Amino acid sequence: MTDPNLVLEVKSSKACCGDDCCAPADSVANVATPQLISNATSEDIHEAVKSRYGRLAETSSSCCGDSCGCNNASLYETELNLIPTEVAEFSLGCGDPISIAELRPGEVVVDLGSGGGLDAFLSAQRVGETGRVIGVDMTPAMIERATKARDKQGFKNVEFRLGQIEHMPIEDNTADVIISNCVINLAPDKKAVFKDAFRVLKSGGRFAVADIVTEGALTPDERANMDFWSECLTGAIDVNVYLGALREVGFVDAQVTHKVAYTGESNFSAKIFSARITARKP
Ligand SMILES: C[S@@+](CC[C@H](N)C(=O)[O-])C[C@H]1O[C@@H](n2cnc3c(N)ncnc32)[C@H](O)[C@@H]1O
Repeated sequence: MTDPNLVLEVKSSKACCGDDCCAPADSVANVATPQLISNATSEDIHEAVKSRYGRLAETSSSCCGDSCGCNNASLYETELNLIPTEVAEFSLGCGDPISIAELRPGEVVVDLGSGGGLDAFLSAQRVGETGRVIGVDMTPAMIERATKARDKQGFKNVEFRLGQIEHMPIEDNTADVIISNCVINLAPDKKAVFKDAFRVLKSGGRFAVADIVTEGALTPDERANMDFWSECLTGAIDVNVYLGALREVGFVDAQVTHKVAYTGESNFSAKIFSARITARKP
């Protein structure tokens, strides 16, 4: 039976984060009339998330405009100075997956929810010409934006594919490493994402992501607030449920290596964190 904490039943439409993530204080404050949708299907959630990120992808240079307020490059411990400003500034993440991925030359990396491409390009620099990076994102405007940046910067070992991270357009046993930055919390069915990550990884492959998780459960009403869900807050699940689901699909050594508490203005019934999470396919 599916764990209700993993397949969140909500209804609404819209999508990134509190002040530890994408659309901080600004967008939270703008939620004068929250979109409350109960009994949402997975499709409703995907459409809501796509709608928000499609709009963000079409903002001119960085996403630090009216609707997002985010430039999360400051969250990185990884050196960003070889990355063009317009790419680095379009960071919608909540952490730094590159700092825990330990990428090596020649490796194949898959970036779940690649957005504007920042983590894909950082990975490409590390895996070099003998390695390659595949970014997957379900928002067409994000794929277009990231592909344009790739062509402009001349990254030959990066490609972006349109698709959902619950069933990626990628062959089995392809990747040495799966990375992701602030995306899995947005997915209505986390376990489907973990299963597909496991399928796509080679034996011995690594899972290294930054994501939003909670300590404790959010209430159904909180989860029904699609504005907060889309801001990477209320789609988040309890960290132990998250780690348990990784183990259930076959991952080993699932653990949180680092976490930072959400300190935004909104109050929730559970503590919200940005965490770095690693696991391994045996
Ligand atoms: C918060 S942004 C993060 C983007 C990027 N990782 C970064 O750090 O800048 C979330 C991204 O994930 C994508 N996304 C959300 N849910 C997805 C899903 N189920 N399948 C594929 N992409 C998804 C969105 O389109 C968006 O580009």
